[in-house]
Amino acid sequence: MNMKIVVEKDYQAMSKTAAAILADAIRANPKIVLGLATGSTPVGLYGELKKQYRQGQLDFSNVRTFNLDEYIGLPKEDPNSYGYFMNEELFKDINIPLENTHIPDGQAEDLEEYCRAYDKSISQEGGIDIQILGIGENGHIAFNEPDESLALETNIVELTEDTIKANSRFFNSMDQVPKTAISMGIGTILKARKIILLASGEKKAPIIGQLLKTRRINTMLPASFLLLHPDVTLVVDQAAYGEMN
Ligand code: GLP
Repeated sequence: MNMKIVVEKDYQAMSKTAAAILADAIRANPKIVLGLATGSTPVGLYGELKKQYRQGQLDFSNVRTFNLDEYIGLPKEDPNSYGYFMNEELFKDINIPLENTHIPDGQAEDLEEYCRAYDKSISQEGGIDIQILGIGENGHIAFNEPDESLALETNIVELTEDTIKANSRFFNSMDQVPKTAISMGIGTILKARKIILLASGEKKAPIIGQLLKTRRINTMLPASFLLLHPDVTLVVDQAAYGEMN
């Protein structure tokens, strides 16, 4: 397996390791194109990047970013939208010009056209240098849910019951969780030059175990497609690595 595996003792150490990889890459290439993820997992990583920025060790003024996904129907001001999340967790505390940041617009008028334009704008910016990924408990990456087939390009996706349930922790009730989203496709993700997959906590141990054991790519395990990529680093904490150790 190509995947490089780094096991850290806890969430904080996982976040620091991932931040160190990103920080070095930003210093080496100040115009880097980053692919960013939402969810609980990268919050610590973003915290570390903000800290390094405050300490004058990082400059985001030429960095460009593309986010993986966004719920359809939520305005950017909605605290549950990924746009709001990115502002709160990262953008508002660093010197990245907002016009350099891209988050799929879940309120675009023509969503299909918008999805095509999103992939195009990634290519126009030169492609993603480093993509940060979390993983769903069901093996989804971005919002590419287990299914008979998976989209190659940025697309409109229907969320599975499992994901709606998992993500309902951020909403007042299950009914409020959007049922559809815009998500980068598997092909969009695999075009990134380097991928960092993060996982933390015992809830992720079963899926990480499955991923590391598999010798077959399988659309019912979307993360298995990462095994085709030549440069993936899995940064996990001990709890998510679980019994594999
Ligand atoms: C969400 C996001 C994914 C994220 C995953 C795990 O639904 N769409 O991009 O990686 O689920 O989330 P968490 O980090 O909160 O476990």
